[in-house]
Amino acid sequence: MSLSYGIHDTETTIQDSLGDAISHGMIVSNLAYLVGKELKLSEEECYNLAVAGMLHDIGKLRLRSYVYEEKEAKLNIDELRYVRLHSTLGYAILKEQGYPDEVTNAVLYHHENIDGTGYPNNLVGEAIPLSARILRVCDAFGALVSNRPYREAFDIETALMIMIEEVKCFDMKVFLAFQKVSMSVQMRLMLKDMGIRN
Ligand SMILES: [Fe+2]
Repeated sequence: MSLSYGIHDTETTIQDSLGDAISHGMIVSNLAYLVGKELKLSEEECYNLAVAGMLHDIGKLRLRSYVYEEKEAKLNIDELRYVRLHSTLGYAILKEQGYPDEVTNAVLYHHENIDGTGYPNNLVGEAIPLSARILRVCDAFGALVSNRPYREAFDIETALMIMIEEVKCFDMKVFLAFQKVSMSVQMRLMLKDMGIRN
């Protein structure tokens, strides 16, 4: 099973409906909060993670207005490059709205990979804020367990297996905390409530 349409498919989903975008935000928000708790972060840090999780793809909403309704499900290479602007755009939008740095930086760097292969700045390791490393894992999982225009949602176990294949993208400490959270009844119930198949 290739991650070329797994972990990285978060880049190609600009044409999700607003409803899908909101439900993806809610999933990432809830998961990020739980992972923050698992990592023993403070209540304020966990709260900021929840806010950043909800808003992490807000930059796509602005991009959507340019390309939505006119395209097929797949984006071409130029458009992919364009979609990659969404994290920087989201950062700018939230900064303008007065959100704290903890939230704006998590949004700006939520597509950075721990091995330096992400964007926008190819940051490596701990140069990426912890909050963004947490969003990265939760976002990848949230995308895998959701339907996409070109594939059905993966079940939770398959999503976790796909993530293990691409674990080099993730902070191992965060990934292990996420794995633990993924086994909790609390998370399973939350996902079930949101229509994600267990
Ligand atoms: Fe994103």
